[in-house]
Amino acid sequence: MKTMNEQSVKLFEQVMQSVTADHLLHARWLNTLSMMENTGARKIARNEHPVHTTLTILKHAAEEARHAYYLKKQIGKLGTGLCADYSREFLLAPMSSYLYLHRLDAEVCRMLKKQWQFSAEQLRQGAYLLVTYAIEVRADVLYGIYQKQLDKAGSKVNVKSIILEEDGHLEEMTSMLQEFHEQWEVLAADACLIEEQLFQNWVEDIKGEVPLPALTA
Ligand SMILES: [Fe+2]
Ligand SMILES: [Fe+2]
Repeated sequence: MKTMNEQSVKLFEQVMQSVTADHLLHARWLNTLSMMENTGARKIARNEHPVHTTLTILKHAAEEARHAYYLKKQIGKLGTGLCADYSREFLLAPMSSYLYLHRLDAEVCRMLKKQWQFSAEQLRQGAYLLVTYAIEVRADVLYGIYQKQLDKAGSKVNVKSIILEEDGHLEEMTSMLQEFHEQWEVLAADACLIEEQLFQNWVEDIKGEVPLPALTA
């Protein structure tokens, strides 16, 4: 039997196949990713300490902002005048895409408070590191599958430069987490479990807006 994880990956591959086959859907997909990257960039910027901000944190914030911009630019390869902004009609699964990061943040905070009894400062920093880590793990899988589908479809769109940078972020988040807590691996696994559930719901919601090829097991 396939694990939940394998099933959601399979479903995501099918969704990507349908999305890249239709210019309008593809534009909305890129716009949705751009909006989510932008939400991430703004979150990192909000979390920056006014004094103790390192080169790594500045680089991460700048690169997430670049991803939002780069994805938005890619839309131009699919046609002109598509998806002017992040209005609902220009996104896929707008509600669940808008809320994904906020929900992840809220649930990770709840977990740290309830199961780990973190102090306020520990909670703030821990939630930031764990949420960002879980997102980087997801970005690795998501952009990898998406790029594979782009290659297969011979699309002009490509996200290779994003994949490279997300790889770097995952390494950075891992080393920051190692410094943060000796049980970082347990914490990280719990955060990824929460993220997996949110990802599944999100893919299901996108599936609802995309015509799927006959599902294969
Ligand atoms: Fe990113
Ligand atoms: Fe990233």
